[in-house]
Amino acid sequence: MEYSNLLYEKDGGIGFVTLNRPKALNALNAALMKEISHLMDQIAADPTVQVVIITGSGEKSFVAGADITEMQPMSAVEGRNWGKFGQATFDKIEKLPQPVIAAVNGFALGGGCELAMACDIRIASEKAKFGQPEVSLGITPGFGGTQRLSRLVGKGRAKELLFTGDLIDAQEAYRIGLVNKVTAPEELLNAAKALAQKIMSRAPVAVQVCKAAVNEGLDVDLDSGVAYEAEVFGLCFATGDQKEGMAAFVEKRPAKFTGK
Ligand code: CAA
Repeated sequence: MEYSNLLYEKDGGIGFVTLNRPKALNALNAALMKEISHLMDQIAADPTVQVVIITGSGEKSFVAGADITEMQPMSAVEGRNWGKFGQATFDKIEKLPQPVIAAVNGFALGGGCELAMACDIRIASEKAKFGQPEVSLGITPGFGGTQRLSRLVGKGRAKELLFTGDLIDAQEAYRIGLVNKVTAPEELLNAAKALAQKIMSRAPVAVQVCKAAVNEGLDVDLDSGVAYEAEVFGLCFATGDQKEGMAAFVEKRPAKFTGK
């Protein structure tokens, strides 16, 4: 598939995705969402990609939400289908085997905040602004925002953001746990790449299994979650990386992981 609304490049194990509709502040129209959905399938099947970074083009915006001009004429059925498609697409991001870092360079509003929340880790520029302003448009968030926001920042804070539609800056997003780290704008991509490099230096299978275990565990009770953990913990002992990691520790040398 030719991508015309996003840019994708691979750089030494990092799959670098830039959402690229800067004139519309990278708003998510159907064409861009289809491209994201297709690309996630490609990345999921690509063992040469170890970490994914998603950012927005231009200085102003990560993603300013779903495309309002496309949604304006929608019927209830069309709205539901659009929501389901968006949810399924962001589910693909959340369930990618590889860790995904959102490098939030500007506005992350509505579907943009929802996209960032579907990523595993969020790093924000000092210029970033977050919010779920849908109630100002007469709708609710539709790409998972009512669910992921409360899981990330708690019920009370999520409800305040959802009911008011207020935007918050990067520092406030950091304070409430919506983002992991805040950087100067010019440092954002370096910070995301440095984090990706650090993750890539660890045992790849173990990293992917950690991601799956956290995701699986959040949807089930603690007993089921720790039971899942015991299984994947055991499976790690069948990898060469466990042999290498522990041998390297005992021999007091850096480990050389192969992802096998
Ligand atoms: N959809 C379509 N176009 C958008 C857009 C969006 N979500 N956000 C911005 N744009 C377009 C603007 O229409 C404008 O286009 P023109 O130049 O052709 O007029 C261009 O991007 C630049 O935007 P502004 O001139 O508005 O820039 P600004 O700096 O004055 O304001 C902003 C920036 C505060 C982000 C403002 O653009 C804005 O409020 N955007 C909408 C934010 C929003 O409500 N997002 C939620 C959408 S609903 C949703 O996402 C539902 C869901 O959960 C799936």
